[in-house]
Amino acid sequence: MTAMNAAAAQATAVLQLQDLVAGYVPGMPIVQGASLRVDAGEMVTIIGPNGAGKSTLMKAIAGLVNIESGRIDLRGQSLLGQASDQIMQAGVGFVPQTGNVFATLSIHENLRVGGYILGAELPQRLEQAYAMFPALAAKRRNKARTLSGGQRQMLAIARALMTNPSVLMLDEPSAGLAPMMVQEVFESLHRLSRQGVSVLMVEQNAKGALQHSDRAYILVEGRNHLDGPARSLLDDPAVAAAFLGAGRRRVAA
Ligand SMILES: Nc1ncnc2c1ncn2[C@@H]1O[C@H](COP(=O)(O)OP(=O)(O)O)[C@@H](O)[C@H]1O
Ligand SMILES: [Mg+2]
Repeated sequence: MTAMNAAAAQATAVLQLQDLVAGYVPGMPIVQGASLRVDAGEMVTIIGPNGAGKSTLMKAIAGLVNIESGRIDLRGQSLLGQASDQIMQAGVGFVPQTGNVFATLSIHENLRVGGYILGAELPQRLEQAYAMFPALAAKRRNKARTLSGGQRQMLAIARALMTNPSVLMLDEPSAGLAPMMVQEVFESLHRLSRQGVSVLMVEQNAKGALQHSDRAYILVEGRNHLDGPARSLLDDPAVAAAFLGAGRRRVAA
């Protein structure tokens, strides 16, 4: 890469949101002016209270929720006005919180569905997916419903990676997983970010997610509340008290 190309690459975020306003009912936005960026090679986490609009924000990026104003750019190109399959083709992979695999289809069929836009590239991408997730390769003929929670999440991730996205978005990838699997999922995502697929995830397991992330955003009532390096947020006592689970545990006890 020449010095000029390097400078240009640095200036262009992989994914950038500016003052995004989005929601389900016109005039009643849930996301009320959110801004964020994800750079090449980064793993970025969004945390925040229940109902803050985190899932709505991800769905808005994926083209599944109505956008009222603001900008969404992927490598400098606007995604506004594009349908969800165009957004996927442009390079945004999305693993929604639920319904992210077809339980009655085999693992192989799930991956083929994920890569339906690929054409001639499909067989090669399938082999790459199995190379990345050997546990799935061993079970490729089995129905997805026979997988453990962790393996199912891996399948959902593998499926979203079929189109070779520049950014992979995941909504609560650790939800419902055993603690050991949670670590494994976060570590896989971190590796992926270092291999050039930028990762943007929403997590309830804020502490665990921050421990594996480069930067994080705290979203409250549809707006940016705080952001910064994940380390600084982890070490901030005010953030810990309000957002890192101590309060929730007290309520549960
Ligand atoms: N499909 C929907 N239609 C209308 N309102 C919704 C829908 N999904 C979520 N909401 C509302 O949007 C708000 C934010 O929800 P959500 O984005 O799921 O928050 P979070 O993921 O941060 O918990 C909530 O008030 C919720 O009731
Ligand atoms: Mg949510």
